[in-house]
Amino acid sequence: MAGSGNAHLREADDALLRVENLVVTYPTDAGVVHGVSDVSIDVRRGETLGLVGESGCGKSTLGRAMTMLREPTSGRVLFDGKDLTGLSREGLRRLRPRLQVIFQDPASSLNPRRTVRKIIAEGLEIWGRKPTPEVVDEMISAVGLDPAVVGERRPGQMSGGQCQRVAIARALMLKPDLILCDEPVSSLDVSIQAQILNLLERLRVDYGLTLIFIAHDLAVVKNISDRIAVMYLGKLCEVAPSGDLHRYPAHPYTRALIDAVPVADPEVEIVPMEIRGDLPSPINPPSGCRFRTRCPLATDLCAEREPEIREVRPGHYAACHYATTQPLPADAPTAEPVTV
Ligand SMILES: Nc1ncnc2c1ncn2[C@@H]1O[C@H](COP(=O)(O)OP(=O)(O)OP(=O)(O)O)[C@@H](O)[C@H]1O
Ligand code: SF4
Ligand SMILES: [Mg+2]
Repeated sequence: MAGSGNAHLREADDALLRVENLVVTYPTDAGVVHGVSDVSIDVRRGETLGLVGESGCGKSTLGRAMTMLREPTSGRVLFDGKDLTGLSREGLRRLRPRLQVIFQDPASSLNPRRTVRKIIAEGLEIWGRKPTPEVVDEMISAVGLDPAVVGERRPGQMSGGQCQRVAIARALMLKPDLILCDEPVSSLDVSIQAQILNLLERLRVDYGLTLIFIAHDLAVVKNISDRIAVMYLGKLCEVAPSGDLHRYPAHPYTRALIDAVPVADPEVEIVPMEIRGDLPSPINPPSGCRFRTRCPLATDLCAEREPEIREVRPGHYAACHYATTQPLPADAPTAEPVTV
């Protein structure tokens, strides 16, 4: 059963991965850090969910808890209908190949002493299966690298973009259902970023993958995400199809993020929204709405009562007492198709 404030969750049967009322806290000497506070979200099979928000808002913590790399403090993680929080260590280990993760810094997640072919093969070898050299080379080609050129190279002999392709190939070898991509292009040159995004989008289609894509920046996830979830200080602010979110952002924080994106879209009419100051401490988050200390629209109500996430337009949810709720004009474009 989903708890309160979960209006944005779809039918449980539709979801490959669904988390309900997820809480992750970190006990520290300075106090308890509220990394993720009561977050519920789902991802459909074959979908790409973008997860955005500024540094320290809890994206990685949420991603790690969604894939059970970190055990949640409370809440449920349902993968293919099964609650992973109730699984034994061995049960989780057996499931692990189906839930893969790609990190920001590919060079540090690859063994520097191994060759590309060994790195890609080793993922399967951990499971007692040895891929043939042909299968390994096919996977190297699938991520856009030439096996004859890079097959015997080590991570230190390759660029960041090539290393990230190898990390993707290693994950793909395990035939995962879902890949969590935690800022996979943030450390790469802008020109390389688009190539890696295009590659992930192509692989999603070719291999029937489901992707969760974490980024600081809305611009990075805009084109590859079907739905986008915006996070602020451990909570969700807004969840909507990518096109709707960009054209009709309902939460002041999303409006500020869109404002920060330099590309101007003449079709988008958004009242500019500026946010001041820094992210408050996750040890002592503000009462009521967590965004209220930086929100230009905050009122007394925002300090007193926490806004629940609610549907502001069909399929579009926001957690703000004053979220824009005007219906879309009849001729308004709906979610943009995913462009590659
Ligand atoms: N192991 C830990 N111990 C204590 N606090 C932690 C730990 N990991 C994360 N945090 C804190 O939890 C909060 C959320 O961190 P998290 O790394 O999930 O954010 P993020 O959105 O991924 O940030 P970034 O964009 O910088 O990667 C931050 O305040 C962070 O300092
Ligand atoms: S609930 Fe209030 S403080 Fe929070 S985003 Fe909405 S207007 Fe701003
Ligand atoms: Mg992170």
